[in-house]
Amino acid sequence: PKVTFRIADTDSRTIDAPDGTSVMLVAVQAGIPGIVGECGGDMSCATCHVYVEDQTGFKKRSADEEDLLELSDDLRETSRLSCQLKLSAATPEVEVEVPPHD
Ligand code: FES
Repeated sequence: PKVTFRIADTDSRTIDAPDGTSVMLVAVQAGIPGIVGECGGDMSCATCHVYVEDQTGFKKRSADEEDLLELSDDLRETSRLSCQLKLSAATPEVEVEVPPHD
């Protein structure tokens, strides 16, 4: 799948990633600023928060994901923890917006 990260309206990067990996891992490996993935995908840090407008092909938010997202600043309808977004043939092209960060 192709994952496009939009960073602060001005910058964007598109990365080819294999099936089975998560959007968080793709971002961390590519050094996308603003996606940290501190807990390594354990759903305990929320430093992998992103916005995804079109979530076709991804699982819906779980209750645990909801709980952790509630703690995030800038929560939106489209908020997701990117470590929970697994890439597959069902997600050939993904657009991800990186929340504002320092
Ligand atoms: Fe920690 Fe996603 S990487 S919650």
